[in-house]
Amino acid sequence: MDTLIDPKLDLFEEIERLKKEKNAIILAHYYQEPDIQDVADYIGDSLGLSQEAAKTDADVIVFAGVHFMAETAKILSPSKKVLLPDVKAGCSLADSCPPHLFRKFKEKYPDHVVITYVNCTAELKALSDIVCTSTNAVQIVESLPKDTKIIFGPDKNLGAWVAKKTGRDLVLWNGACMVHEIFSREKITRLRERHPRAKFIAHPECEEAVLQLADYIGSTTGLLKYTVNSDADEFIVATESGIIHQMEKENPGKTFIPAPPNNNCACNDCPYMKRNTLEKLYLCMKNDTPEVDVPAHIITAARKPIERMLEISAGLGL
Ligand code: 13P
Ligand code: SF4
Repeated sequence: MDTLIDPKLDLFEEIERLKKEKNAIILAHYYQEPDIQDVADYIGDSLGLSQEAAKTDADVIVFAGVHFMAETAKILSPSKKVLLPDVKAGCSLADSCPPHLFRKFKEKYPDHVVITYVNCTAELKALSDIVCTSTNAVQIVESLPKDTKIIFGPDKNLGAWVAKKTGRDLVLWNGACMVHEIFSREKITRLRERHPRAKFIAHPECEEAVLQLADYIGSTTGLLKYTVNSDADEFIVATESGIIHQMEKENPGKTFIPAPPNNNCACNDCPYMKRNTLEKLYLCMKNDTPEVDVPAHIITAARKPIERMLEISAGLGL
């Protein structure tokens, strides 16, 4: 396999050429580096990316995101080849919920419906009744009758926020995302004093103490739309910093400040999302590897809860 790249190559041109040659589509999450976002055919949040993966007629889906996202694309389009530029692009939140432990947890609540956040492994989805994303989690919970008993996993922060928004009592799995748990309430408070006109916006994977300060809470798409529709011209952003590229593109003249982390050696870049680079994207398209595959029995079991989410979302116009 050829892994050397001629430094004279224009990777943007080469990637465009490979897209045509292989009938490939590049789907990128907002947390990808700017160069990857700029070569993508579609950039979006987890819901938008799964909707695109389900409807594309490309032969190859190049997933510029993390492993669970590529798995979801494979589950929805099993006949297509799904490539992930770096196969080690995992997710701390997905890792915080090993399927064998979740199965035992679920056994303690046999009369509960299981809703899982899409940020989990395919095996975990196969143990679920409905999948959700941060865009539709509130609506998915509300789609069930009020007296339904619900387990929500793996993200305890998103789960607690959804419980608060819906007034439902959810049984939460104790998982979290390392990137969204890094923000410092104290530093954000001090930063807001220095930028009194700035709106503070946060992703619901952040901890409750941080969410309490927010002017707006939403998924990456929700946050982006808020910055476009708001009259404010300054925003403090508590989510992975990659989203700021689209915020700046869609809002010329507005200022975006990444929310500060609670120590000096960490930043709010997701170390998994940022494993993908333009070079690895080019190489994976050139070499048709690494490919993400999901066992057939997991595809069969995981497809139902994902399709249920897509149906509910389509019914709500999400
Ligand atoms: P959304 O883009 O769906 O809001 O998800 C955020 C995230 O953490 C993806 O890994
Ligand atoms: Fe996972 Fe958090 Fe990275 Fe999203 S930001 S991929 S939830 S580790």
